[in-house]
Amino acid sequence: MIPARPVTSLQNATVKAARALHMRKEREASGLFLAEGLKIVAEAVELGRTPRTLFFGREAADHPVLQRVARATAQAGGELLEVSHDVLEKVSRRENPQTVLGIFPQAFTPLQDIQPDAAACWVALDRVRDPGNLGTIVRTADAAGAGGVILVGECADPYSVEAVRATMGSIFAVRIARAALQEFLAWRTAWPGSVVGSLLSATTDYRAANYRAPTLLLMGNEQQGLPPELARACDVNVKIPMRGRADSLNLAVATGIMLYALLP
Ligand SMILES: C[S@@+](CC[C@H](N)C(=O)[O-])C[C@H]1O[C@@H](n2cnc3c(N)ncnc32)[C@H](O)[C@@H]1O
Repeated sequence: MIPARPVTSLQNATVKAARALHMRKEREASGLFLAEGLKIVAEAVELGRTPRTLFFGREAADHPVLQRVARATAQAGGELLEVSHDVLEKVSRRENPQTVLGIFPQAFTPLQDIQPDAAACWVALDRVRDPGNLGTIVRTADAAGAGGVILVGECADPYSVEAVRATMGSIFAVRIARAALQEFLAWRTAWPGSVVGSLLSATTDYRAANYRAPTLLLMGNEQQGLPPELARACDVNVKIPMRGRADSLNLAVATGIMLYALLP
């Protein structure tokens, strides 16, 4: 086993700094985030993203995958900490914590670095508020084969612990960009394919519209939907038929339906 520093004190500075990553202010100041679970941390390492700090419990220490992850972490200059159950609980703020936790650098893609033709569809989210929705959309974008997710305006933090949990590891596989509204509107003018607004008030059924790849799918805020300024910036606005008494679909569900319609 690669040598790791044993830590049992809940007052340890690294433990306290890791726990502080539950707060957005601390994530923004440090540019770091917390990912939980051996499978997810191992997937990150496979994608070339090694943790700055790897926490693991004694019970995970002999696992061959953990050993591989620990070797990669040490080789990349990361820190290895073998910690008590209490420390895992404190860092994860969970009573039944995962036995492996990793602290990673955040990796936003600059908007200008997005290459539309690198994928058949991209998703833009207007002021998404719910971290669970955001994480589920990142996971769904990964599953469906979208290029990435662009966060427009004031959005939930994709690197919050709750959002990262909901991505189930896809946070490492999907490009995430962010843009202020005006910046997005200016950038969108050079989009080479169809910009598609998903709106309850649209009159065109999403299955009846013609789309030109690469598509840029625009989804609205959970409470307010897509504002007129963004709806007007789309080449086509479409709706998913609502047949029962529900007046709308959950944002992540609507995004999933649209993504599978737009991707070949
Ligand atoms: C919960 S809905 C927003 C509901 C909001 N009260 C409204 O009036 O738009 C969140 C987002 O999911 C998408 N959405 C939900 N149901 C939809 C549907 N039936 N057709 C198209 N988009 C839908 C839209 O992008 C919407 O902005």
